[in-house]
Amino acid sequence: MPGELRRECDRVRTAGMSLGLVPTMGALHAGHRSLIRRSQAECERTVVSIFVNPAQFGPGEDYDRYPRDLEADLAFCADLGVDLVFAPSVAAMYPEGFSTRVNLRGVLVETLEGAHRPGHFEGVATVVTKLLAGARPDRAYFGHKDAQQCAVVRRLAADLDLGADIVVCPTVRDPDGLALSSRNVRLSPADRHEALAIPAALGVADAAHRGGQTDPETIRELILLRLAESPHLEVDYVAVVDAETFEPAAEVSVRCEILIAARIAGTRLIDVLTPGADERLAVGAGG
Ligand code: PAJ
Repeated sequence: MPGELRRECDRVRTAGMSLGLVPTMGALHAGHRSLIRRSQAECERTVVSIFVNPAQFGPGEDYDRYPRDLEADLAFCADLGVDLVFAPSVAAMYPEGFSTRVNLRGVLVETLEGAHRPGHFEGVATVVTKLLAGARPDRAYFGHKDAQQCAVVRRLAADLDLGADIVVCPTVRDPDGLALSSRNVRLSPADRHEALAIPAALGVADAAHRGGQTDPETIRELILLRLAESPHLEVDYVAVVDAETFEPAAEVSVRCEILIAARIAGTRLIDVLTPGADERLAVGAGG
């Protein structure tokens, strides 16, 4: 119940302790773990929310098929020593009569994920606002893998004076380079092999940028060429954008994001690289 979240978090604050919030949709993996660990390192108490948010899935998307395993997630959190887990029902989050939506305007929510998933950011912004307003954490932790989501959340937290610092954590990858995602469990070994073109293409872009290439269109073409080596990968977009506004970047730099979204056998994967930011593309999952 959202009321309980507020009461428990108020208790932490009243005791003078700092609070970190890690919002998730469950099916927890090492990417989520890295956010939880970071919160525990920086805050005295950590609350993890687990809620597969129907409002951020469009019709025909995978809300019904989204992996769910609350028992395993609770054990995962217990193992990590998470202080509080908030796992509300849909009816508790969106009771009858619920009619408020949080909408941002402009390119940031209209481009890329916003264009391919109409209504997605409205759903994310609404649920994240409820979580931030309910828990009132000092800091909230998000993964860079969802870079546009990070920019949307940063924007709304600042615009609505929600008072939480938004902390963006590096993408955790499997040793083969694939960014961890709850949806990866649906990939067959063959799909997964083809999906590796995504981090490989980001690696090509990174190498080109380190070699002095700063033209966004050239970088995009290099990425598309590498992705084309995986015939079953259907590319939604490849983009080089300003990290704050998500406007197309005039020049590739550390203030940009290079983003890829693609589908393989019905599973949608996204990945991102900040050029020159030293995020490793093919390393094991963090502890
Ligand atoms: P979910 O996909 O469960 O992700 C929860 C958080 O974990 C997000 O901030 C996401 O960016 C981060 N994360 C996922 N994979 C990661 C990886 N490989 N490395 C580092 N961080 C990773 O994103 C959502 O849920 C929802 O949209 C939510 C913010 C909870 C709102 O419903």
